[in-house]
Amino acid sequence: MDNNRYDSHRPRKRVSRKTLRNRRLAALFIIAFLVLLFIILIAKGCSKDDKKKKPSKVSSATTITTTSTTTDAAVTTTAVTTTTVADPVNKSDFQLDKTSVYIEVGETDTPMVQAYPDGTYEADERWSSGDKSIATVDSYGHIKGISPGICYVTLRSAADPKQEVMIKVTVRGDEVENETSIAPQSNVAEAPEPPVYDTEGLTYIDGVLIANKSYSLPATFAPGLESICYTQFQALSGAAAKEGLSIWLGSGYRSYHDQEIIYDNYVKEDGKDAADTYSARPGFSEHQTGLVIDCNTIDDAFGYTPEATWLAEHAHEYGFIIRYPQGKEEYTGYKYEPWHIRYVGSKLATKLYKSGQCLEEYLNIKSEYKSS
Ligand code: DAL
Ligand code: ZN
Repeated sequence: MDNNRYDSHRPRKRVSRKTLRNRRLAALFIIAFLVLLFIILIAKGCSKDDKKKKPSKVSSATTITTTSTTTDAAVTTTAVTTTTVADPVNKSDFQLDKTSVYIEVGETDTPMVQAYPDGTYEADERWSSGDKSIATVDSYGHIKGISPGICYVTLRSAADPKQEVMIKVTVRGDEVENETSIAPQSNVAEAPEPPVYDTEGLTYIDGVLIANKSYSLPATFAPGLESICYTQFQALSGAAAKEGLSIWLGSGYRSYHDQEIIYDNYVKEDGKDAADTYSARPGFSEHQTGLVIDCNTIDDAFGYTPEATWLAEHAHEYGFIIRYPQGKEEYTGYKYEPWHIRYVGSKLATKLYKSGQCLEEYLNIKSEYKSS
């Protein structure tokens, strides 16, 4: 046994000054290294906390740059939008190389499937678009931009339909349309009434399809953006462009499932009570009727733009109403949304515009959820 290990009286070796200096330097070096390591570890911990605290609203906002030019022969519109459309929440075992796609009108992009859920193979891929007026997708997942806006494309497994993943598609566009196709409706009576859907579970009151907190839509009701709504919107947008204003489609048709994702995200961010003041529960959103368009920026700031002022004054000429007007929250159940227009045809739209009534007030109906 080495007794010297515990012997404090062990004779010490003589150490030169140079060795002492070197030892001190080495000790200093080690201390400096440890301090540095400590600082790095603390900094890492902080940045993790920061990530947790940052509201996802910021990261989910989407901005696209825009310009608008008017010439004698044509009107060129490049869409721009800042929207709070939520990023999709993907919980499936599909793994894609991307869950967001940015394309121009007419351009295509294809997310690559890198991993499949157990028991699902390439042949089980089922692709669908939440808004075919914005982007289409074929059975191979080729996504094509149709018109400026944002929508979701879903990849579902035919073998296990619970397995699905959503891709947020942003379509930017330069639309060159000739003047005749964007000419404003000079005669208000020309905006026809919307079609009546022959689907069980829908509520029509005085011939108007109702989707509010009191009247829901079946989850399976999925008409897509109604063509008359889109055509009239183009006329409206063209008329605004002639006055140097840029009104573009920010959000159009949303399926039951799209709304479920959006609403759930808002509940996570702001809580249910707050979310219910500005976002419809799935099955209760007017966007599911295919008769609604959110113009430009889905943001309170839109209300202060000349585009919002123009929209409030002229939407009825094209058959639209500002569906959730300021001061009508008690009737509509929602906060003021200067961007959300609903197609009802110019007859009813003009009646509501002139009377200053909102739809619930005019029809004498409620908008209240049965359960909180
Ligand atoms: N923002 C409206 C109320 C909707 O979610 O349909
Ligand atoms: Zn809306």
